[in-house]
Amino acid sequence: MGKAVPERVLTNKDLEALVDTSDEWITTRTGIKQRYIADPDTAASDLGYLAAVQALANAQVRADDIDLLIVATTTPDMPFPATACIIQERLNAKNAAAFDVAAACSGFMYGIEIGRAMLAAGYQKVLVVGVDVISRLIDYEDRSTCVLFGDGAGAAVLGSVEPGFGFIASEIGADGSGAMLLHVPAGGSRIPAQAKSLEAKQHYVKMCGREVYKFAVQIICDSTERVLRKAGVAVDTIRWFVPHQANVRIIEAAAQRLQIAADRIYVNVDRYGNTSAASVPIALAELAQAGLVEDGDLVLMVGFGAGLTWGSALLRWGGFER
Ligand code: COA
Repeated sequence: MGKAVPERVLTNKDLEALVDTSDEWITTRTGIKQRYIADPDTAASDLGYLAAVQALANAQVRADDIDLLIVATTTPDMPFPATACIIQERLNAKNAAAFDVAAACSGFMYGIEIGRAMLAAGYQKVLVVGVDVISRLIDYEDRSTCVLFGDGAGAAVLGSVEPGFGFIASEIGADGSGAMLLHVPAGGSRIPAQAKSLEAKQHYVKMCGREVYKFAVQIICDSTERVLRKAGVAVDTIRWFVPHQANVRIIEAAAQRLQIAADRIYVNVDRYGNTSAASVPIALAELAQAGLVEDGDLVLMVGFGAGLTWGSALLRWGGFER
């Protein structure tokens, strides 16, 4: 695992100077205290590259041993080429096929599901990067969205592991009927960039917060239960529950319904805000780097986001081949 965030920190106090909000409101409604914001020169490939370098070093894998590079992002450097190709070039991962996956905050979960399937199909080492410079899509005059998000990147190297370790069960899913609950209207082929769209602020995130909140709590519970059932594993055997870090209230509401004890839930949304596709891999990278996850631990990751999309994966940590 690897991770990278920009240097600049944007605190709740800083936001008080930008919009009509308060540290108290943000903290009680979301659990977020600060988030990292990229400077104008930093694009998704810059953060993604740094996370990828760290993941390769931690996995002791050389860039030219990667045969597939998947980048999950909704904030690519540009419409094309894929950000994966830009990162591939910087890593000199010359033996890797490279493409992007657009599944918003569920992007990393989609990426590892595809990576797993490609390993089963014969690929040897898959690098999955989740990265978003989501601040580029945020209107810092809109208090209902600007307090929630932050920038960052996380990366994972997938490869074969010893028997008894690795992925046990997983799923990805989508419900396009909720597509407009969380979206950016312009910048694509429907409404290309133009003076009118800029003026109407159509290049920014539009969100129905309440509906997304309800979806999030429900899908974390449903998807987790399906994956546990598929694996034949009881919820109390999970050592680390690693949900997408959007809002601590969403995490707590879902954990309460699932009856997962607080000391088994990894939460870092207070420090990062919602980093979209980077959220789950940053959390996993922190767990690994702090030595909090041990060989044999059961780890359950759940992502959800725009689309609407979701994805969950249960794995037994460890058994890495060096
Ligand atoms: N500061 C102060 N007040 C704010 C505010 C802010 N940053 N943002 C919204 N408000 C106000 C609203 O205008 C509203 O005021 P009103 O009652 O006078 O109209 C009030 O707070 C309540 O707003 P509401 O949207 O009902 O709050 P909420 O309790 O639903 O919390 C969210 C809002 C966004 C925190 C919550 O809906 C949420 O987390 N949704 C999911 C968002 C998400 O995770 N998206 C990404 C998914 S990947």
